[in-house]
Amino acid sequence: MTKYRSIVILTGAGVSAESGVATFRDSGGLWEQHKIEDVATPEAYKRNPQLVQDFYNMRRRFLDTVEPNAAHDALAKLEKGYAGRVVVITQNVDDLHERAGTHNLIHMHGQHRQVFCTACDKTTGWQGDLSVDHICAFCRAIGTTRPDIVWFGEMPYYMEMIDDALAGCDLFLSIGTSGTVYPAAGFVSAVRRLGKAHTIEFNLDASDCSAQFHEHRHGPATQTVPDCVHQLLGEHP
Ligand code: OAD
Repeated sequence: MTKYRSIVILTGAGVSAESGVATFRDSGGLWEQHKIEDVATPEAYKRNPQLVQDFYNMRRRFLDTVEPNAAHDALAKLEKGYAGRVVVITQNVDDLHERAGTHNLIHMHGQHRQVFCTACDKTTGWQGDLSVDHICAFCRAIGTTRPDIVWFGEMPYYMEMIDDALAGCDLFLSIGTSGTVYPAAGFVSAVRRLGKAHTIEFNLDASDCSAQFHEHRHGPATQTVPDCVHQLLGEHP
């Protein structure tokens, strides 16, 4: 039986934590080691493009050393096996959801393995390091290509598509996010205002917006997410 017609899943850094990707705000997280204003704003890039490129080159390279975990796998299995609609909206810029096999995926904060040219606006897939004097393959401009990452102060991608998905869902799952960065932190309240979706939070602990969820599943995502997918697919683990 397909209990829910449309499932929207928001993921954050916690879904990739057990793959070895550092989260941002947990103890030892990325924002403890690097200042946001040095590496994750348009102003930082203008001031010191080399430092910003080095930071993202390091993070892009790191992706070669990690693999999707059981939570990514379970979500891919849900998309494949569920009779209703399933969409994953991720704040993560790693590629672990797609490597696990999720197709209906929205990268609202961009992706490490993509870059774009600020001169011609063309986006392209990217695997290696990016240099500050890179020549754009489309318009030949020099030094105008940057990581396709939504920095603080920039507008997240695909907001219209996301609003439509949130408005149409009857189950909203939020996995491994601290609920501190908007607009993603406001998705649960947007869904609650419409009043038709059940909402579940998956986290190690309570997050900043825990109180807004109907239900909580505390524990590592590699356990709680596969359990939930078993339930949704009507399987008995
Ligand atoms: P955070 O680092 O803020 O939060 C990670 C959340 O995951 C925390 O609430 C942890 O408790 C939880 N967590 C950690 N390990 C977990 C596990 N194994 N299972 C379940 N939960 C776990 O990361 P985000 O909320 O994703 O934006 O951060 C949101 C945005 O802030 C990021 O996309 C990034 C960042 O600055 C930009 O760079 C624009």
